[in-house]
Amino acid sequence: MSDLAAVDTTYDRFAHDPAYVAANRAFVERLPLASVKRILDLACGTGAVGQLMLAAAPEAGLYGIDLDPVQIGLAADNYTRLGYAVGRIDGPSGTLPAQRGRRVDLAVGSATDLPFAAGSFDCAMIANAIHLIDDKAALAASISRVLEPGGLFAFSSGFYAGCWPPVTQQVYYEWLKEATAWIARHSAERVAAGEAPIRRVRGKSQLSPVAYGNRWLTPDEWRQLLSEQGFDVIDLNERAVMFNHHSLASVGAYSGLAEAQLSGYPVEVASQALAETAVLALDSAGVTEVQHNWIEICARRRAM
Ligand SMILES: C[S@@+](CC[C@H](N)C(=O)[O-])C[C@H]1O[C@@H](n2cnc3c(N)ncnc32)[C@H](O)[C@@H]1O
Repeated sequence: MSDLAAVDTTYDRFAHDPAYVAANRAFVERLPLASVKRILDLACGTGAVGQLMLAAAPEAGLYGIDLDPVQIGLAADNYTRLGYAVGRIDGPSGTLPAQRGRRVDLAVGSATDLPFAAGSFDCAMIANAIHLIDDKAALAASISRVLEPGGLFAFSSGFYAGCWPPVTQQVYYEWLKEATAWIARHSAERVAAGEAPIRRVRGKSQLSPVAYGNRWLTPDEWRQLLSEQGFDVIDLNERAVMFNHHSLASVGAYSGLAEAQLSGYPVEVASQALAETAVLALDSAGVTEVQHNWIEICARRRAM
């Protein structure tokens, strides 16, 4: 077989994984959202966590920003399907559309560039993406600016100092080994069929330095950084999430992870290799699930 099956490389598949959904629900349940009116969802992806926030804040409208137009398109479809009025904005603009409940506005743009007036939101969140931002102090400072005094800043992240209990390293080691062997087999099949081999072009990936190049903070470092940027941490939780082979296969298929784990291979090849070999990684390590810890923080902006 020389053709690769089509694989969904967006975040949508993992966003529906039962373990991820349950973790996000539990994260959102801890947040005091009942009276929130204007939510800023940074790196909103397909809207998986924004939807949970809106369900918990029935009077709120949401403004979602993501760098990736594909994720923004999926988010628009998902919110429309749920009955929200959806506005698409060409790049984040300083002028916010009038927002009422059951309205979502979406823009392609960067979480590090927030051209909104001071105090525009009473809640900002960034679900499972803050580890992708290099200058976290600058991010927290600009979020502090666009929040009104007393506004909430909530985030969760699966990448912080403490996310991988030592025992899990064996699974990730086995996964990379199996995925690389999977690619080698497919490359050999292609060559046998008279096609070009699958090549790894070192240095090609733009994402891997972002995902793994940033230093991961400890919970105490997060507390300190937020305090220095004008926030009081009101809740900090570490959650142990158990991933089975379905969870690993769906997160491995996501291009953001595949490009980081197997940088330099064509992304659809890396995605499929990780998706196909997730079960082998768990088998080789002699387990059926792997623990992954998430950090969840909710902070309140101090009145200056
Ligand atoms: C792991 S996904 C999380 C998506 C969503 N928050 C969720 O939890 O379902 C990470 C997302 O961050 C986006 N992203 C990465 N860097 C970004 C940045 N600087 N500004 C905006 N979005 C960014 C990616 O495009 C991707 O959609």
